[in-house]
Amino acid sequence: MTLPAFFLVFFLFILVVALMLFYTEFFGAGYFPASDRVVKRMIQFSRLGKKDVFYDMGCGDGRVLMRAAPFCKKAIGIEIDPLRYILARFNTRKIRNIHVLRGNFFSNNLKDADVVFIYLQKWSNRRLKDKFLKEMKPGSVIVSHCWTLDLPLWKKDEKLKVYAYRRTI
Ligand SMILES: C[S@@+](CC[C@H](N)C(=O)[O-])C[C@H]1O[C@@H](n2cnc3c(N)ncnc32)[C@H](O)[C@@H]1O
Repeated sequence: MTLPAFFLVFFLFILVVALMLFYTEFFGAGYFPASDRVVKRMIQFSRLGKKDVFYDMGCGDGRVLMRAAPFCKKAIGIEIDPLRYILARFNTRKIRNIHVLRGNFFSNNLKDADVVFIYLQKWSNRRLKDKFLKEMKPGSVIVSHCWTLDLPLWKKDEKLKVYAYRRTI
């Protein structure tokens, strides 16, 4: 293989990998896993309880669901990317109260949600705000990592960029 051909193949390879990782950016966010510390703070802030239904909007490989499942009744993950959906299903296959759904979270109703976790983008948070207000019940909690929501803040950890919101009415 000549040197220019090698660079072309290498460039195409990087492009395909980047597209596979980040094309979901256009649907809500690319894939960046939340750290354990962030997930721990989210569980703490939301006071996730044994009767609660928990949602991870864009569940990636299912790591947040696995951390939340022992604390709640049901942990539901919605994932648009087919490969990450399969990975999340595989990773969580032995945990009975985890349900991974393949689809777009913008079209999934949240009426049964007690706690919703989002680690998305500024624009998707903006778009989700109305959905949260329309569908979520009083007392339910939204915890966002990285980006805030245009709602009255309930709790925050500025260092970890974890922001919690509670529906009062
Ligand atoms: C920043 S990652 C967060 C992953 C996981 N929640 C975590 O914290 O480790 C965002 C995830 O949302 C998924 N996603 C983006 N837009 C989506 C949409 N409209 N519906 C469902 N999943 C979506 C992406 O594929 C990606 O896995």
